[in-house]
Amino acid sequence: MGMVKILLTAIVILMLSACSSKNYDPNIITNGELLYVENCLSCHGVNLQGQQNWLNALDEDGHRLAPPLNGSGHTWHHSPEMLSEIIKYGLKSIDSKYEGKMVGNENLTDEEILSILEYIKSVWPENLKKEYETNHE
Ligand code: HEC
Repeated sequence: MGMVKILLTAIVILMLSACSSKNYDPNIITNGELLYVENCLSCHGVNLQGQQNWLNALDEDGHRLAPPLNGSGHTWHHSPEMLSEIIKYGLKSIDSKYEGKMVGNENLTDEEILSILEYIKSVWPENLKKEYETNHE
């Protein structure tokens, strides 16, 4: 009897942990990576490192350069909802006067944007990822 209880508990714990790691479904991340390459890489870089000198320099139009999305910038200070907004509707969605290079991607579905976000998070250092998940779940 005791043994059955222990077994059942173990199964429940396993199921719960399987659920909580569903965000890291490798298919979602692979799909997100493909979408990233297609839509974001040209500015944010092949390693999500952003454009060189992004903090200090401007591009030839006087616009700010693309920041890193790899965890070294401030991406992780934004909630998933806000990041989805920025990606879908551009920075205009949080600053109506915005005229820079981060325009929206309204061609992408919400699901596609979520998978890009999962890909972005997947390259963050483990501690950052954990902190972010704790703050936003
Ligand atoms: C034409 C260049 C360009 C493309 C393409 C582009 N971005 Fe950006 N992105 C920028 C720039 C520049 C900024 C910084 C905004 C500013 O200060 O003007 C930015 C800002 C951001 C931010 C907010 C910054 C942060 O760290 O919170 C996120 C998130 C982001 N981009 C994600 C994406 C994703 C995802 C894609 C692809 C779907 C993408 N961007 C495509 C140029 C680009």
